[in-house]
Amino acid sequence: MDIASRPSEPAENTQVADAAPPPAAPPVIRREDYLPPAWLVPEVALDFRLGLDATKVVAKLSVARNPAGSGASTLRLNGDQIAPLAVRVDGLDVNDWRLDGSDLLVELNGEAHAVEVETALNPAANSQLMGLYASNGMLCTQCEAEGFRRITFFPDRPDVLSTYTVRMSGEKAQFPILLANGNCTASGEGEDGTHWAEWHDPWPKPSYLFALVAGDLVANHAEFTTMGGRKVDLNIWVRPGDEDRTQHAMDSLVNSMKWDEEAFGREYDLDLFNIVAVSDFNMGAMENKGLNVFNTRYVLADPETATDGDYDAVEGVIGHEYFHNWSGNRVTCRDWFQLSLKEGFTVLRDQLFSADMGSEAVKRIEDVRVLRIAQFPEDSGPLAHPIRPDSFQEISNFYTATIYNKGAEVIRMMRTMAGLERFRQGTDLYFERHDGEAATCEDFVKAIEDGARLDLTQFRLWYSQAGTPQVAAEMAHNGTQTVLKLTQTVPATPGQPEKQAMPIPLRVALFDRDTGTHSGEQLIVLDKDSQTFTFDGFTQPPVLSINRGFSAPVAIEFERDSADLVFLAAHDDDPFARYEAMQGLVVQHLVAAVSGKLDDAARAEGRAAIGEAYGSVIADPALDDLMRGELMILPAETYLAEQLPVSDPGAIHAEREALKAWLGRELAAPLKALHDRAVAVAYSREAAARGARKIKTQALVLIACSDPAEGARRAFAQYQAADNMTDRQGALMVLASLDAPERETALADFHDRYEGNALVIDKWFSLQAGALNPKVLEHIAALAQHPDFTMTNPNRVRALYMAAAANPKAFHDASGEGYRMIGDLIRRLDPINAQTAARFVPSLGRWRRIEPVRAAMMRAELERIAALPELSRDVREQVSKSLG
Ligand code: ARG
Ligand code: ZN
Repeated sequence: MDIASRPSEPAENTQVADAAPPPAAPPVIRREDYLPPAWLVPEVALDFRLGLDATKVVAKLSVARNPAGSGASTLRLNGDQIAPLAVRVDGLDVNDWRLDGSDLLVELNGEAHAVEVETALNPAANSQLMGLYASNGMLCTQCEAEGFRRITFFPDRPDVLSTYTVRMSGEKAQFPILLANGNCTASGEGEDGTHWAEWHDPWPKPSYLFALVAGDLVANHAEFTTMGGRKVDLNIWVRPGDEDRTQHAMDSLVNSMKWDEEAFGREYDLDLFNIVAVSDFNMGAMENKGLNVFNTRYVLADPETATDGDYDAVEGVIGHEYFHNWSGNRVTCRDWFQLSLKEGFTVLRDQLFSADMGSEAVKRIEDVRVLRIAQFPEDSGPLAHPIRPDSFQEISNFYTATIYNKGAEVIRMMRTMAGLERFRQGTDLYFERHDGEAATCEDFVKAIEDGARLDLTQFRLWYSQAGTPQVAAEMAHNGTQTVLKLTQTVPATPGQPEKQAMPIPLRVALFDRDTGTHSGEQLIVLDKDSQTFTFDGFTQPPVLSINRGFSAPVAIEFERDSADLVFLAAHDDDPFARYEAMQGLVVQHLVAAVSGKLDDAARAEGRAAIGEAYGSVIADPALDDLMRGELMILPAETYLAEQLPVSDPGAIHAEREALKAWLGRELAAPLKALHDRAVAVAYSREAAARGARKIKTQALVLIACSDPAEGARRAFAQYQAADNMTDRQGALMVLASLDAPERETALADFHDRYEGNALVIDKWFSLQAGALNPKVLEHIAALAQHPDFTMTNPNRVRALYMAAAANPKAFHDASGEGYRMIGDLIRRLDPINAQTAARFVPSLGRWRRIEPVRAAMMRAELERIAALPELSRDVREQVSKSLG
């Protein structure tokens, strides 16, 4: 029984409940408290005797006093859930050690010593998936950020760089493949069917980049020759049977290696590059030196099982982890407050790579959509933090859209202000100056400042201030002069009530409404609270196109006529600005609608403008279909909610659905023609065919909204004719939201067809949990009982519950059942996998921005979690900040 279903205690009976002390808050770690390590570890030798439920580790550390350290004689070795079986210093068993919490402290008198510690682990019991764990009979590791301390005692901090030698032995039948970082230097047979391998990584690295993998794996192998002529062996390791689905990942890896040489002058630095796919993984992937470990979902792809979106995600994540070899590994972080140093920069690098591999315009739109859906709400909520945080309780909670995606936007602004050539001089200087070091965000900014010759004094505020800047624009025209007045406000965020004005680079263009052209784009930088910019040469008021290409991660507030937005949606030569005008048109209309500001006439007028713009997007022969598909995507409900201080998710959902149905009716004929045209395009991975698949499902969604019977008919036909997952998933998504007989038939067929293929069964869970079906909550409850559901696989948990939490129809159901479902999940998942459990807290943490009836229920869920005596540091931090 859980707490929710327990009958409540009589009010006077409080003795028992009050007996336990309130749970202690985890300690707060502060950036300003940074101290260099007292001891360094130039070399490490690790010896693993591998077993799924019993692994023995002997770690030999050569330690040396850090000349820049405090001079303390105590060596602090971090540990987590491990015990020291033996401690030896310079070869002698010593008693002069003690435990401080879970850390091991050893007193040392000299300048350098050899410290040896033995530990024993049970990988099969490690459900947290941090440290060494078992997945499908194989062993693998995840050490970032603080997982190495779950393997052995070590100064587990990124500013301690060591050269690693790793020896491992185990049963050959169970672990035929033995991998670690660097190069394999020796291997051989042991007794009783065992074998062993020794690996050496010549590049000094922090412990978070250590990795080991042992299991029954097969490789897709290829070779790459670097610009300097180094021949590199490339392997993508998967479970036998999966090798046919690795070619896209391999192509993406080769493209990444080539691209980094051309775009950033970065060459690979080992003779071997291994990637291993693992089905139990907390995150997307991990950039361990020479041995990247990936969630299977970012490796495996073929047309039958992966959508076009999955292909793009594989390419992006392969690139991301590869690019970390320089931005993360060769230059790493001094401490975890600097996380965005490697993550923000590497996200920017993977974005630029994907843009070069496909459509730059479409990639930019997708990246901004992610930022607005995932990062803007974070920046305006209780968990808001600067891209370089000042404090944390659990670092795993800071692998956020702010650190990653806003971090990338901040560096992109420097690139925009410097221009591409000077920016490259800045990054060249950064790599040259800090190669082999553990650096700070300040080091990065300084290198760009010097190398790109920019003054970034005031720009540094982007690193210290949280919150999405709001830029209000007003335009006045008089005679031939146009005056643009811009005013910025950076909203207060937790711990930061007052903000200073930041430099905001805005690409702008002014359009002549008669000719539909502009006289050139300009980059203006708003760096005061309020500023005016004057433009000459317009005899009538021009149409303003601002923040083109989304040159700054801000929200623009600019009241304007629908006619101007319709104009820009049709004429702007910046594809992002064109998308933005479409979005603006819909946002203005829907925000007015949910705020009760539209009478019948105004609603009809707003819809007519949207219908007109939408109609020309469908018809415009100059648009490619990938771009057309982007322009057809309506603003997300979370983004609409962001526009209001407090919102009613039910009203937003109802208005947005009503608009979709109206568009489907109004444009029925062109949408059906569009769907027919797209259906006739044969499958290929070329842009034109991918575009056709994108608009096919977009059209289907609107057709189904206005005419469910016609939608079901077309969706079922699309499902049955599908020769690829993009079409099949798109059709099933539409069917899952309908109350048609085809729904059950298609869902059952899909499950049968892909039984045993975990990544596709994940889709089966997601599609149902994300559906706009009236019975979606019942469906989710039933899926949680399905034999294929398990709480121990993060992909499966996310497939069901992230989809549910992101589905307003389920999560924000007026009954509060959606909140209860996510609250229960967090409480049940926390002891199994705290990192994954904590990821579900922010959805409930948005309560202050939601109408009062729902807000009270969301808050109550958080309180129910907070009342638990045993909570992980991860969930405790997120819940207490969300309530605070
Ligand atoms: N550095 C990895 C990446 O962005 C993410 C690893 C995060 N892991 C974690 N357990 N928090 O590529
Ligand atoms: Zn990363």
